[in-house]
Amino acid sequence: MQWTEKHRPKSLHEIKDQDEAILKIKNFIGTFYLGKLTKTPRKALVLHGPPGIGKTTLAHVIAKEENLEIFELNASDLRNKLKLKEILRPAIEQKSLIRKGKIILVDEVDGISAVDRGGLMELLSLITLTNYPIIITANNIWAPKLSGLRKKSELVRLKEINYNSIKDVMINVLRKENNFINNNFLTKIAINAKGDLRSAINDLQTASITKDPSSNLVDERNKETDIFNALKLVFKGKPTNETLSIYDSVKMPIDEIILWVEENIPAEYQRRELKRAYDLLSKVDIFRKRIYRQQYWRFLVYENILLSYGVSSSKKDVKPGFTSYKKPTRILKIWMNNQKTFKKKSIAKKYARKVHVGEKRIMSEFPIIRNILKNPEVRRELRLSDEEINYLDKPI
Ligand SMILES: Nc1ncnc2c1ncn2[C@@H]1O[C@H](COP(=O)(O)OP(=O)(O)O)[C@@H](O)[C@H]1O
Ligand SMILES: [Mg+2]
Repeated sequence: MQWTEKHRPKSLHEIKDQDEAILKIKNFIGTFYLGKLTKTPRKALVLHGPPGIGKTTLAHVIAKEENLEIFELNASDLRNKLKLKEILRPAIEQKSLIRKGKIILVDEVDGISAVDRGGLMELLSLITLTNYPIIITANNIWAPKLSGLRKKSELVRLKEINYNSIKDVMINVLRKENNFINNNFLTKIAINAKGDLRSAINDLQTASITKDPSSNLVDERNKETDIFNALKLVFKGKPTNETLSIYDSVKMPIDEIILWVEENIPAEYQRRELKRAYDLLSKVDIFRKRIYRQQYWRFLVYENILLSYGVSSSKKDVKPGFTSYKKPTRILKIWMNNQKTFKKKSIAKKYARKVHVGEKRIMSEFPIIRNILKNPEVRRELRLSDEEINYLDKPI
């Protein structure tokens, strides 16, 4: 179960950083029911602000504390005029026969598309007619299509949640879950959330599933020692049968290994040795091209042999001493970026569509979303391709 649902605040004192808004909503409902404080009380109040700061939660909790029933309408209910007339009009016109008051909640009014003005017009006429207070939530109340709504409602801006409060909430959730996560990591999540408490709790939940949230960093380090060791054995060791399988233990695609070898040949070989090694490397490249063009994967074997045994046997003597190998710079960067952003983008696109968040945001928060994407169920739901899954499983 999602922690954001499981631990959704049930009373006002659990809601962080929104004291001002709480007062305003209480006031709004109070004037509405007592009626007399202002001559023409506004009948609708819009809670607006970015996602994950408590808009929906506040509406529900206030209703509960004020002992009001919630009558919730979504964008598609509004679009359906018939439904509105049938359900809502009677509901708003039969005033106070029952003692329990009502709040009408229109959550995420942004969802009503600008093209479909009907829904919005209907909402405006409801505001005029209603006998019950209407609470509306919106991410962006300044959208042009909402100008009519702005004029008819009281606007209450909810603030992004302070990062200390985010941490407090996370610690509380962990306590209830009997879970523990290292403090530095909590701070990181809290800062990264940029005021969005929902995404912080989601990140927390995924972090709690991954045993060691810093494992990505460790992988990065392992990856480098692997390739360094392999290069050392190829360049400095005698070519043997083991040399043939040397790259198997390196968790890196062969294309990337080629770039490492290429970059570091000059550090080890001179003159004729250098020429021989580069000759072999050019043959590797030819096989590589053939593999891509003809999809003839058996050539991979040759590619591998040339790159390991071949390069290793290009030297006459073993060069003693320590050589510090360099990370391939220019080409590797281009190559890796192309590879990465390509798959990352296609994954981000699928994910963005599902969670209704912008693709850009997903891209910028990819390191954290990556953890969510470890879940096989999520992968299935997003219909990730094998290549995309490979990309996700590869150490960063
Ligand atoms: N101000 C807050 N105080 C405590 N928890 C919050 C707050 N805002 C959001 N949350 C947490 O984030 C989740 C999503 O909040 P929600 O009210 O749905 O956000 P919004 O409607 O603004 O997008 C809630 O279930 C709750 O766990
Ligand atoms: Mg909401």
